Amino acid sequence: MTTQLTIIKPDDWHLHLRDGEALSTTVAFTAKQFQRAIVMPNLAQPIINAELAMAYKQRILDARPTDSAFQPLMTLYLTDNTTADDIKQASESNDIVAAKLYPAGATTNSSNGVTDIDKLAPVFTAMQKHGLLLLVHAEVTDNSVDIFDREQVFIDKHLNTIRRDFPELKIVLEHATTKQAIAFVEANDNTAATLTPQHLLFNRNDLLAGGIRPHNYCLPILKRETHRLALVKAAISGNRKFFLGTDSAPHTSHAKEASCGCAGCFTAHAAIELYTEVFEKENALDKLEGFSSFYGPDFYNLPRNKSKITLIKEAWKAPPNYSFGDHTLTPFRQETSLNWSISQ
Ligand code: NCD
Ligand code: ZN
Repeated sequence: MTTQLTIIKPDDWHLHLRDGEALSTTVAFTAKQFQRAIVMPNLAQPIINAELAMAYKQRILDARPTDSAFQPLMTLYLTDNTTADDIKQASESNDIVAAKLYPAGATTNSSNGVTDIDKLAPVFTAMQKHGLLLLVHAEVTDNSVDIFDREQVFIDKHLNTIRRDFPELKIVLEHATTKQAIAFVEANDNTAATLTPQHLLFNRNDLLAGGIRPHNYCLPILKRETHRLALVKAAISGNRKFFLGTDSAPHTSHAKEASCGCAGCFTAHAAIELYTEVFEKENALDKLEGFSSFYGPDFYNLPRNKSKITLIKEAWKAPPNYSFGDHTLTPFRQETSLNWSISQ
């Protein structure tokens, strides 16, 4: 039985750090285990241009623990008003590597997102030309579509067309949750997906059976077991199109434990430990390093990290809460022990 594992330091290819006071909590957790992270731009005031992205990057750097070499990789938030020139300017900054497509109303802070994807053609053309990746929240927002079907319908209605019309555009289907998403990624070139710990570990029973569990609520919503199994199979397959992206998305405890609770699971306190558990259960620990540390930078055309981290099989339990500005934050999976720890 493996009880110790050393891998190249991983990166998180999908992360929400928030802003202001929250950064003093979020940045430290991520910096402890990840060398780099793709920072999502869905702040209350979204990051819609290069200038805002650079200022946000500086606030993140200022919040790093003193000895940390953590590097945030910045993204632009696409709106109906994004122009090809916004993309050109972003690509010239070198620190901005991608742009995120949120269909308007799909998730937290997406009200300024895109209402008509077809109108983004000039923006996608510019992204393809300047080598910016397109990161997609792949869910339709149409209320007549069942929430459990929204990813699949988005792929059929929108993603197939974008893929066909912009063949050189690198696309990441973020936080893939269905077997249809896995099949789409497998079938198309220049296409990858991030996979979250919560979607690899849990199915919708963990959200809804035996009581409603708000800390397991995120978007896209947890799906049925057949989908979870397809995600796990992809993660441990060694297929370079699938890599780590936590989608760690902190909200205050009271905003989640509410009559209308916010979507998002906070996993940054134990992200690599949670992924290790998934790979161990499948007897696939030898595939963890590729998924966590190699395939992400390869897809983004960035160098692989050099430093290493060591994981040891030692159980620990997250506290019920962490402090989060003036509030508290409830970590994901704090009910039960975690099997793996990072060696200090
Ligand atoms: C994210 C958030 O809170 O910013 N929430 C979530 O449920 N995943 C947004 C997102 O990635 O959808
Ligand atoms: Zn997210």
